[in-house]
Amino acid sequence: MSEIRTYHPRRGRVTPTQAEALRTLMPRYAAPEGRLDLQTLFGGRPVVLEIGFGLGHATVEMAQADPGTGIVAADVHTPGVGRLLHEIDALGLDNVRVVHGDAVDLLRERVDAGSLAGVRAFFPDPWPKARHHKRRLVRPDLVALIASRLRHGGALHVATDWEPYAESMLEVLDAEPTLRNAYERWAPRLERPLTKFERTGLEKGHQVRDLVYVRR
Ligand SMILES: C[S@@+](CC[C@H](N)C(=O)[O-])C[C@H]1O[C@@H](n2cnc3c(N)ncnc32)[C@H](O)[C@@H]1O
Repeated sequence: MSEIRTYHPRRGRVTPTQAEALRTLMPRYAAPEGRLDLQTLFGGRPVVLEIGFGLGHATVEMAQADPGTGIVAADVHTPGVGRLLHEIDALGLDNVRVVHGDAVDLLRERVDAGSLAGVRAFFPDPWPKARHHKRRLVRPDLVALIASRLRHGGALHVATDWEPYAESMLEVLDAEPTLRNAYERWAPRLERPLTKFERTGLEKGHQVRDLVYVRR
């Protein structure tokens, strides 16, 4: 099946520290190959998936703030993967596993239905041009996929600083029958570390919107 990817493959310079981390730490902190056994991955702790962690700032903060939750953090961007691996190791975090690859493939092929306690996607690429909207992460087919992998009561938390995307997210998420908005409309800014993309958005004067939807 040909897939419309939610990202643009880009190179980006990998620093020597990141390269070293990719070489030496990936074997230790990568999520195991194949189907993920979320019951045992973090010794029975609930597991959330972070889609598109970027440089991993939020990942590290969330992992430190909530050691009782395991985070599977996925991104396709190599320098960020290197950076996150380095941080996990330097801080001795035992509740993060990294996936260097497409989170959509991961959800589809390696995560059981009804198994995740949460899915988080902070500042997913907004794909502002109309002809690129089909690449958005928050689009009907991918929202249905994400919802199917959440357990009952599990939450999908997304944030964006691109107002038209925020409005579209609201529409797409409201239309998914297995999800309900945890708030009336926008969620308050809750338990979400400031990331590079949020800071940039705020500097540009953008309004940041959070949305939280719960699996029925
Ligand atoms: C705009 S950046 C935001 C990064 C970070 N969450 C932040 O707030 O700073 C979006 C990230 O999502 C990643 N991404 C997009 N589609 C993805 C996918 N299907 N699987 C994994 N990562 C993806 C991109 O590589 C990029 O790093």
